Amino acid sequence: MFAGIAARYDLLNHLLSGNTDRRWRRLVVERLRSSLGAHTRTLDVACGTGDLALALAEGSETSVTGLDFCRPMLELAARKAETRGRALPFIEGDALHLPFADATFDVVTIAFGLRNLASVEAGLREFWRVLRPGGTLAVLEFSRPNVPGFRALFQFYFTRVLPRVGGLVSGSRGAYEYLPDSVSRFPDQKRLAALLREIGFAQVEYRNLTGGIAALHTATRPA
Ligand SMILES: C[S@@+](CC[C@H](N)C(=O)[O-])C[C@H]1O[C@@H](n2cnc3c(N)ncnc32)[C@H](O)[C@@H]1O
Repeated sequence: MFAGIAARYDLLNHLLSGNTDRRWRRLVVERLRSSLGAHTRTLDVACGTGDLALALAEGSETSVTGLDFCRPMLELAARKAETRGRALPFIEGDALHLPFADATFDVVTIAFGLRNLASVEAGLREFWRVLRPGGTLAVLEFSRPNVPGFRALFQFYFTRVLPRVGGLVSGSRGAYEYLPDSVSRFPDQKRLAALLREIGFAQVEYRNLTGGIAALHTATRPA
């Protein structure tokens, strides 16, 4: 599915969100800034076309690796990095079986990827494994709007308008019907925070973005 929409993925992200996706990714970098010093290593899981990996690399001194299992997405990410004069490693791999030793990274990020994994819990446990003790996880993901009137309006847009526009522009309506479906099955802000705590993460916090359309969760693997 992701290979089928890769070529139009960035365009549709910016179009369907009115460029809000760019602001959300910048907020991830801001939130993590104190953890992204020189000599730190960051893994961006499910990096897609590389927007968050590049925002992290351009907004801090950390060394960033992007990982995704979809080769067309990775090829676009590598090309984008090259045009910006950045030589980031973009690696093909499965988020549920990361090709890294335990405790390799200081920071692990995932943007709009966790929802797509066959098991959210198994993914979080795998991120825990590759984080060093004391390391930080950041999850940017669609969530539940928390303002009642706005929620109904957004649901109309998300389930009726977005699949049509996404389908027309990408040629794959299924992928843009899958988006609201997958969000409705994904844990909301509080449940995701609770799951992170159950797994053993500490300092679990989240911030609602744009009225809860998305949420940014951060958590630490205890030292
Ligand atoms: C909605 S895109 C998000 C891409 C990017 N992080 C962003 O913010 O735009 C989801 C990405 O997750 C990747 N993905 C889904 N399941 C995966 C898995 N098990 N392992 C690695 N990548 C996966 C897809 O290939 C796709 O590129």
